[in-house]
Parts: sequence; structure tokens; C-alpha cells
Amino acid sequence: MCSTVEALLKSCSQNNLSLNKKDIKICLLYVIEKSKTFLLTNPQYEVSKPKINEFNRLIQLLKSGLPLAYVIGNQEFYGYEYYVNSNVLIPRPETELIIPEILKRGDLIFNKNKKLTLIDAGSGSGCIGLTVACERPNWKIILLEKKLDCMDILKKNYVKYSNINCKIVASDWLKSIKQKVCDIVVSNPPYIESHSENIDSKVFKYEPHYALFSEEKGLNDIKLLISQSRLALKKDGLLFIENGFDQSNEVIEILKKNYYKDIDIILDYNGIKRFTISRNS
Ligand SMILES: C[S@@+](CC[C@H](N)C(=O)[O-])C[C@H]1O[C@@H](n2cnc3c(N)ncnc32)[C@H](O)[C@@H]1O
Repeated sequence: MCSTVEALLKSCSQNNLSLNKKDIKICLLYVIEKSKTFLLTNPQYEVSKPKINEFNRLIQLLKSGLPLAYVIGNQEFYGYEYYVNSNVLIPRPETELIIPEILKRGDLIFNKNKKLTLIDAGSGSGCIGLTVACERPNWKIILLEKKLDCMDILKKNYVKYSNINCKIVASDWLKSIKQKVCDIVVSNPPYIESHSENIDSKVFKYEPHYALFSEEKGLNDIKLLISQSRLALKKDGLLFIENGFDQSNEVIEILKKNYYKDIDIILDYNGIKRFTISRNS
């Protein structure tokens, strides 16, 4: 039997008080492939039985604790929709904050004679590199990722958003990158201390541990990135690194030891020193 969207939402919310109403609505929109505006203006729209079954299946997944992004296989990032599955980190709102900084600083480097090359190291879903590729189709973007498990989703997003100046490279950080070839390296690496208790239980249970944890108090991958970027970056090339809530001072020290200069900090929405931007010497 069919049901209207209004009736479905009402009964689902009443029967699942533990679930967020907004998440329920997003699942329904995903199943009926309609926009929020459509839902508002067409409360009597009839949903077919197969679609209701599919909606109920998604609601059961939500109830099991699976994050919404994995339930619908999608996450918005900087206005773009990225495919996700449990092999890739769910793109985070704080990571979006680095995009305008990259665009602003990259525009100063880029000119008609000089095409800019940017590496997104540890691309995962590809959200950072592909967003920059969409915003700046003239730049050359390399989506670098080591984990083969991420490649299906990365390729899917690459096909969805790619332009001819974008390519995927399988590499252990920057080991396969030639020396002095790039203008910008950006990375949101794994930076949570292994065995840390400072982690949301849902994140720990559902998101891939290779995207989250790093040895040496969470700093091992950041150290590798900083030293390897020094070789891959041209003189004066820029390094953008995301870090954990309490790692900023240590990251600055590592950068200084590796002779980076002009170090800047970007705060996230909670005032945490979330990104370090620096220049290769
Ligand atoms: C925190 S996730 C970031 C994903 C994506 N860039 C984002 O911001 O949502 C870190 C990514 O780094 C990748 N990674 C971990 N170790 C790596 C290595 N040695 N070389 C390249 N990528 C690596 C992981 O597979 C994961 O996709």
C-alpha cells in the first residue's frame, strides 16, 4: 500500500523517537529522489510500496547506529555531494574550512604562464582535491591515496567531478612523487593517537582505522608528510596540514625542524588550532 510523504515521516518519527527527525527526512528524500523544497510543497506525494520498504531498511540501519552518510552513501562537502562508504572517512565540516585558504593562496601563485600543481595526500573520498579541482579547473590536481580499499569510492567521485587536470596516484605518502614538482601539498592525515580514548564511539566503530589513527601520539604520519613534502614541494611551495585538537604546537616544532617558514594557523569552528600552513624554504 502507498503512503504520503507527510504520513510516512510522521509515523516514522513517532515510532523512532531516538532518531533525529532531520536524518529521517534525509533518508526519505534519498529514497524518493526529491529535494527538500519538493517535500515542503508536496506533503501529499504518494510513496510506492517498494520505496517504503527501502526507506524502512535505511531507518533500521540508522537505528543500528550506522552514521547517516554511510546509510545513504553520500556526504555534502563545500556544496558538492561525495559518495562515501565505510572504507573512507566521512568528510568533516571543519575540513571544508581549508578550501577557501587553498583557493586564496593558490590564486596568488597561479598565473597564465605558470600552471599550479596541487597534491591532496591521503585523498580518501577525494573531497579536498576534487573540490579544489572543481573550483579551479585550470590547476593540476593529484589525488594521492595508499589504501586500495578507498579506490572504488575515490574513482567514483573522480568520474563524477573530474576534469582533465585531475589524476589519481596510488602512493605511500609522497614516496612516488618526483622532487620539486608541486606548488601545494594539502593533507588531512590520520592523526589520532592509537588507543586514544578521546574518540567518539560511533567514529571508532564505523570509520576506517587507517584513516584515523597514527603512531607516535598521532604524529607519525604528520612527520612523514612534513619531511617528504619538503622534497616534493618547489621552493616556496605551500604545505597545508590538518591536525588534532592538541597537536598544533608540536606540528609547528616539526615544521621548524624541517626548515619550513611563514607558519600560519587556521582555527576551526570551535576555536581549535586545526590547520597549519607553511612555506617550503
Ligand atoms: C583522515 S583521512 C582523510 C580523507 C580525506 N582527505 C578527508 O579529508 O576526508 C586520511 C587518509 O589518508 C590515507 N592514508 C593513510 N596512510 C597513508 C599513506 N601512508 N599514504 C597515503 N595515504 C594514506 C587513508 O587511507 C585515508 O584515506
